[in-house]
Amino acid sequence: MKITLSVIKADVGGYVGHSESHPDVIAKASECLAKAKKEGLLIDGQATKCGDDLQLIMTHQQGTSGYEIHKLAWDTFVAGTEVAKALKLHGAGQDLLTDAFSGNVRGMGPGVAEMEFEEREAETVLIFMADKTSAGAWNMPLYKIFADPFNTIGLVIAANMHNGFAFEVLDVKEHKKITFNAPEEIYDMLVLIGAPSRFVVKAVYHRDSQEIGSVSSTERLSMTAGRYVGKDDPVCIVRSQGVFPAVGEVLEPFASPILVEGWMRGSHMGPLMPVSVEDSTPSRFDGPPRVIGLGFQLCEGTLIGPRDMFADKAFNLARHKANEMADMMRRHGPFEPHRLPLEEMEYTTMPQVAKKLKDRFVNLD
Ligand code: F6R
Ligand code: MG
Ligand code: MG
Repeated sequence: MKITLSVIKADVGGYVGHSESHPDVIAKASECLAKAKKEGLLIDGQATKCGDDLQLIMTHQQGTSGYEIHKLAWDTFVAGTEVAKALKLHGAGQDLLTDAFSGNVRGMGPGVAEMEFEEREAETVLIFMADKTSAGAWNMPLYKIFADPFNTIGLVIAANMHNGFAFEVLDVKEHKKITFNAPEEIYDMLVLIGAPSRFVVKAVYHRDSQEIGSVSSTERLSMTAGRYVGKDDPVCIVRSQGVFPAVGEVLEPFASPILVEGWMRGSHMGPLMPVSVEDSTPSRFDGPPRVIGLGFQLCEGTLIGPRDMFADKAFNLARHKANEMADMMRRHGPFEPHRLPLEEMEYTTMPQVAKKLKDRFVNLD
């Protein structure tokens, strides 16, 4: 049975500030998805949140970029925005950059990760959602999951993974894409994906079977809007078990927190902290950035789950380390490397201030 799994997200209003989502907004979204399920458009659908981002997890048979599915997502975000406005939540409708739906939510503000596949005998999927960070935050985790034998022992000792995975990488500034084969091209690939503000892993494929293993949202909000309107807060779907890395191999990169772009005003480097859904409440300096991981088994498209994967106590140490990293970064205040490098600050609120100072510069003798 061919299934499409779509994860579409948007920030339609924060509670309090940008720290969390209001339960009424999530309830409204759940209602919209339940209606679409009843009408037969969705096989199944769940609404959840990561920090201030409303997340729609949907299964259906409309394929990727399906008009009806994208319209449902858009209408759900609009309905959520109305609730947010009625409660005067902060930044109501923040990520809806246009007034009217025009066929596909891509390029209209929301983030999108979708994949179509033949549901396996047991279809294990993990959905990662992050808040206060940008597209590109998945580069290192995806590299570790699908290309690093120190993370994924299956690459070494499982015959069905030994030929490796292919990575589709986008150049988000030049609007180009390139595919690399791992393991033989990892050095070339790392030249690019080691710069996650520009090169973003879009998808990963199992090389023997050509089956899709992962897909991420790669929309850069600031580029879509032409100005800073909040961070991308990306999502990522990973298929697991069998010819794909095991659940524990997929979760393992998040046990060693890394620094990502985002945090306060989308302008800082900070640790990506793995947390339960309940703890996805970025508050200290509007952060630190959070990632949640929900696990599902699919049953003819029905979402069996979620299991809240980072609620596990085995991630306590990672959270502790992330808090220590946060302290260390905060010590720099407005200085780099806590504040983003100048080039990246172009995509924040800084250009307005820089403009003010422009005429005060005088040439050196
Ligand atoms: C970062 C983020 C927050 C806001 C900050 C200012 O992604 O959403 O750090 O940038 O709270 O928010 P506004 O400008 O809405 O008052
Ligand atoms: Mg927000
Ligand atoms: Mg957010």
